Amino acid sequence: MDKKTLFSGIQPTGEFHLGNYLGALKNWVDLQNSGEYNCIYSIVDLHAMTIDYDVKSYQEKVISNAIDLLSIGVDPQKSILFLQSQVPEHSVLCWILNTIVPVSELERMTQYKDKARKNDKNINMGLLDYPVLMVADILLYKSEFVPVGEDQTQHLELTNIILRKFNNKFGEYFQKVNPIYTKGTRIRSLQDPNRKMSKSMGEKSCLLLNDSPDAITKKIMSSVTDTGPQKSIHMSPGVDNLFTILELLADPEIAKKFNVDYHNRVLKYSELKTALADVVNKHLEPIREKRRELENDKGSVLKILEEGREKAKSIAEQNMKEIKNLVGLI
Ligand code: TYM
Repeated sequence: MDKKTLFSGIQPTGEFHLGNYLGALKNWVDLQNSGEYNCIYSIVDLHAMTIDYDVKSYQEKVISNAIDLLSIGVDPQKSILFLQSQVPEHSVLCWILNTIVPVSELERMTQYKDKARKNDKNINMGLLDYPVLMVADILLYKSEFVPVGEDQTQHLELTNIILRKFNNKFGEYFQKVNPIYTKGTRIRSLQDPNRKMSKSMGEKSCLLLNDSPDAITKKIMSSVTDTGPQKSIHMSPGVDNLFTILELLADPEIAKKFNVDYHNRVLKYSELKTALADVVNKHLEPIREKRRELENDKGSVLKILEEGREKAKSIAEQNMKEIKNLVGLI
C-alpha cells in the first residue's frame, strides 16, 4: 500500500525549546522511524519573517536550526528536510489560496490576534496571511497528516476549511488533513504554568535544547510548583507539567514511583526536580554531542539542505502543474 504523506514545519527562531521538542520534533523523528509515512519537514523561514527579526544573523540561525533538527535525529535518508523559501511553489500556492479565503477567517485566528497585540508597531500583511502560507505548505505535498503541538490546532482546522472551499470550487483534489499530537502537546512555561512554554516568555521559563546541563538544572530547580501534594486528584499546572516531561523522557518505572509518592502525599518536589533535571540532561547529552560534530561540518549540512530542496521541489512542481491546471492557469 502507498505510504501517506506527512508534513510539518518549524520557524527558525535560533533555538528550539523543550516544548517544540516534546510537542512536535521528537514525534517527527518517531514518525520518520516508524517507516509508515513519507515525511517532509521544513524550516519555515518565510513564516518567521512576519515578526521583527535580525536580518544579519538570519542565515546563521536557519543553518543552526537545521543542525538542531539533524542532531535530534531527523535523517535525510528517511525524510525530506528543506528550507521553505527555496521552494517558491509554497508562495504561489499561498497566493492561489488567498483568492478563496475570506479575510474574516484570518482575522479570527487567535495566534494572529496574539501576535498583533504583541507586535502592534508591525502588524503587516504577512502576519495576517501567515496561516494561509501554512495551509499552502501542507497542501502543496498533498499531505494528510501533520504532527504539531496543540497551539496549531486552529490553523489545521482552517486548513480543512480552505481545502473544502478549494475542492468545491475547482474539483475534488485535496484530502482531509489530520493533526498528530503527542502527550507533550502543550508543554507549559516553567515560571507561569498557565501559559505555554515559549521563547517569548523569558529565559527562565524555557528549557532550550542547547542549554548547558547546569542551566537546565537551575531552571528546573526554580520552576513554579505549589505548596505540596494536594488532596484533590488534579495536579496543579506546574506540577502536572513536570510530570508530563518526566513521563515523556524517563524510564516508566521512575515516573511511576514519583506518581505513587505524589498520590500518597509524600513527594518532595525538590526530589522530583532533581530527578527530572537528570533525566532531561541525559536525554539531551547525545543530541549535544551530535550537534558538536555537525557544527564542524557545515558543508555536509548545506549539502543535505540542497538535496532536500531538490526532492521537495520535484514533488511541488508536479503537484503545482495539476493545481494550476485545476484553477485555469497555463
Ligand atoms: P512553531 O515554529 O511555533 O513551533 C514548532 C512546533 O512546536 C510546537 N510547540 C509546542 N508544543 C508543545 N508545547 C509547547 N509549549 C510548544 N511550543 C511550540 C508547535 O505546535 C509546532 O508544532 N505555524 C507553525 C510552523 C508551520 C507549520 C507549517 C507547522 C509553518 N507551516 C505546516 C506544520 C505544518 C509554528 O509556528 O510552529
